[in-house]
Amino acid sequence: MRRKIVAGNWKMNTTVAEGVALAKELVANMGEVPADVNMVVAPPFVHLTSVGEAIRDSKIALSAQNCADQPKGAFTGEVAAAMLAGIGCQYVILGHSERRQYYGETSATLVPKIKLALENGLQPIYCVGEMLSEREAGNHFNVVKAQIEEVLFGLTAEQMGHIVIAYEPVWAIGTGVTATNEQAQEIHAFIRKTIADKFGARIADDCTILYGGSCKPSNAKELFACPDIDGGLIGGASLKAADFIAIAQSY
Ligand code: PGA
Repeated sequence: MRRKIVAGNWKMNTTVAEGVALAKELVANMGEVPADVNMVVAPPFVHLTSVGEAIRDSKIALSAQNCADQPKGAFTGEVAAAMLAGIGCQYVILGHSERRQYYGETSATLVPKIKLALENGLQPIYCVGEMLSEREAGNHFNVVKAQIEEVLFGLTAEQMGHIVIAYEPVWAIGTGVTATNEQAQEIHAFIRKTIADKFGARIADDCTILYGGSCKPSNAKELFACPDIDGGLIGGASLKAADFIAIAQSY
């Protein structure tokens, strides 16, 4: 069964105290979110323990925004997948376009990150998406296909069953410009077909594929109504409890 997920990517925002307050507000107000919508929050690393505590008795799951491509050792400043699993993370966002653009992440570093996340029982939320120039050149299908092939095609079907994919066109992230329902549905269907061709129809059918990029209460409902869109990865709008809940409710 394909799961519905609405995940909040807080990026590098909020102090720990603000993050805990936001998490508590979510817990207090999530009553009207449909029971089959899985809510996830991805605060910065230093918040994870405190935010994890704030959401402990709720249905909200905890995610990190990144993990190291090495299991442990002399890698100053890095955080290992095992450490995240050890403090109760269930998910980890990997391959976000900001990591690719500003921190030089490539498929070569993402392959071991995905592998380590899976080995430690974390579910990767693997982000793909094209830049504006790539879409304008009509190259978006090839770009997204390569991002999937290079990083996910080495997995077993069993492992692929634990992957969540987030399609986030770079031109829509934080810009206020959202992909149209048609643009999003078209590429989500393409992603599902790419997965089906490699891993079979059942794995593809069960795979949760999120849309991300200026998703907000006013456009979430129609995006989530598309047959191949199974929820959202929400940046800016996840920093306001009311907006994030409204997005989850609109499902
Ligand atoms: P946005 O970010 O909702 O602020 O556009 C989405 C994301 O980067 O995950």
